[in-house]
Amino acid sequence: NIKGVVFDMDGVLTETSKAHFEAWRDLSNKLGFNIPDTVGDQVRGISRLESLEIVLSYDAKKRAFTDAEKTSLTDDKNAIYLEKIKAYSKRDLAPGTLELLKYLQKKEIRIALASASRNASFLLKAMEIDSYFDGVVDPSSIKNGKPAPDIFTKAVALLGLPAEKCLGVEDAQAGIESIRSAGLIPVGIGPLEKCQYRFDTLNDFYQALLLNS
Ligand code: BG6
Ligand code: MG
Repeated sequence: NIKGVVFDMDGVLTETSKAHFEAWRDLSNKLGFNIPDTVGDQVRGISRLESLEIVLSYDAKKRAFTDAEKTSLTDDKNAIYLEKIKAYSKRDLAPGTLELLKYLQKKEIRIALASASRNASFLLKAMEIDSYFDGVVDPSSIKNGKPAPDIFTKAVALLGLPAEKCLGVEDAQAGIESIRSAGLIPVGIGPLEKCQYRFDTLNDFYQALLLNS
């Protein structure tokens, strides 16, 4: 008797997590250092500015940047990122995404997006899935990012549903924490802890739903 599903986007509906990481790596190289692969998981679900702080912690020179410089660095990262995703289309959806969204719609289960990314609306349109969403949280309206509950709380409010009737689907541990504290049922995609349900891919989640219907 699930009434709604709230999705994260990056790393769930599309594999943009790699592009985010590569953009941070390009930026670090421009600044004269390199970040290890482990930063890829560290920045999952984390806002642009907080991600920058993580990246800068690997700067051997330990430079202190002003707020204005940090804004300009996050702008640089976003420009690099946008270049990487500029040709994104429905071909870049994670396997099973379209089938899953259609299935939920047919079952009259409401669908929302809780992505921290300010590029989310652009990508939903580029990948031609925006029409499936009954609610999309504007991340700039959210005070506390993941792992705080705010973004998932806002998403279920947009759907007009009680949190406990909704699944939250995430690829980031910070996102799972956010889902749990907002009171939704946590579904993890990837190697995550503290999930009610956990799958290796979104398609595995879809197949499990089919089997149980
Ligand atoms: C999240 C990503 O979805 O969005 C993070 O997992 C990213 O890696 C964050 O930093 C903010 O995204 P953007 O596109 O606004 O820089
Ligand atoms: Mg994610």
